[in-house]
Amino acid sequence: MDNFTFWNPTKLIFGKGQLEQLKTEIPPYGKKILLVYGGGSIKRNGLYDQVKEILQEIGADVFELAGVEPNPRLSTVHKGVQICKEEGIEFLLAVGGGSVIDCTKAIAAGAKYDGDAWDFIIKKASVTDALPFGTVLTLAATGSEMNSGSVITNWETKEKHGWGSPYTFPKFSILDPVNTFTVPKDQTVYGIVDMMSHVFEHYFHLTENTDFQDRMCESLLITVMETAPKLLADLENYEHRATILYCGTMALNGILNMGYRGDWASHNIEHAVSAVYDIPHGGGLAILFPNWMKHNLHVKPSRFKQLAIRVFGVDANGKTDEEIGLEGIEKLREFWNSIGAPSRLADYDIDDSRLEEMADKAMVNGEFGNFTKLNRDDVLAIYRASL
Ligand code: NZQ
Ligand code: ZN
Repeated sequence: MDNFTFWNPTKLIFGKGQLEQLKTEIPPYGKKILLVYGGGSIKRNGLYDQVKEILQEIGADVFELAGVEPNPRLSTVHKGVQICKEEGIEFLLAVGGGSVIDCTKAIAAGAKYDGDAWDFIIKKASVTDALPFGTVLTLAATGSEMNSGSVITNWETKEKHGWGSPYTFPKFSILDPVNTFTVPKDQTVYGIVDMMSHVFEHYFHLTENTDFQDRMCESLLITVMETAPKLLADLENYEHRATILYCGTMALNGILNMGYRGDWASHNIEHAVSAVYDIPHGGGLAILFPNWMKHNLHVKPSRFKQLAIRVFGVDANGKTDEEIGLEGIEKLREFWNSIGAPSRLADYDIDDSRLEEMADKAMVNGEFGNFTKLNRDDVLAIYRASL
């Protein structure tokens, strides 16, 4: 196991009716609030009205930034930063999925930065302060509600980059499974793929003696795979929504990955695809991750073997580690197919015409991945296998 420091200051508030906690959580930060939300789902399901009522009750002076896009754009970050600077915003409240939260993080940091927020997104500058913000999560997927990361797309240059700082942890996050009841089936599937992918990103590393971490990762994967079909057959089931919501947060809040460094190449490869084609992040991962696995099975077959046996129930009798590992990858593919996730880039009408461009974007900071380093040929091979 490697040395580590674990630090996660986000207060997690979970369960039915917990929105009420906004009444005590927000006031210490001030009265001037920027409410950030997406394309209207919270207006349709009534959450917007509930939040506004509470903000009114605590006497908040509310400004709004609506219309944050899935794969949030730099132009929207700029709008938010401008409101914060002009109006003297004291606290931001993100109500939505990962995109709304990621956008809010960039606005919070941008409001305390003199230049263009893009500078710290591409790591040309570092974040030294941010406005405080909280979240009301409406979609189980990214873990952004309890981590400091954010992913922003510059639509003009078609670049999508992840960034983060110790200043961009939410002060609190309210997770009421009821607020996820209206997430449509496809987005529910993308969320499930995303949280499982976060665990896979952790799982593929070369550090020895991570027995407990491995078991935690495997436990989360098994729980999600057991729950997903039941939830997809009954989208308003509180218990299943609660399990998936909790798993989504735990998959990327630092709890699972103490003492080793995960791979994270598949996320980089996917971000390059969604930067060019604006596809849902979870959909892209469902297509690409099994092909990353097949491409890198040879690096440490025993790791794939352990996953295949413990999580996918592969019978190891008379087979080599590589055969067992491959069977596990096939079972993952089957599981994602069974819940309706896409399996080929063609499912999003993506052909081979822009593979080189996507590979260039993925390679912008050079070779990447911690389990094994990928070069441009590796990236192209994974894209080609995904067509
Ligand atoms: O915009 P609205 O109208 O709210 O609709 C959204 C959006 O269309 C809808 N939705 C959300 N909650 C809903 C709902 N519809 C009905 N009922 C609800 N309760 O779902 C659609 C997708 O929302 P989005 O926020 O884009 O999804 P997700 O949470 O999957 O976030 C994806 C973004 O997060 C980034 C991805 O790259 C992508 O840009 N990621 C962020 C990470 C992080 N910060 O740690 C890590 C991830 O790996 C990921 O890269
Ligand atoms: Zn992800």
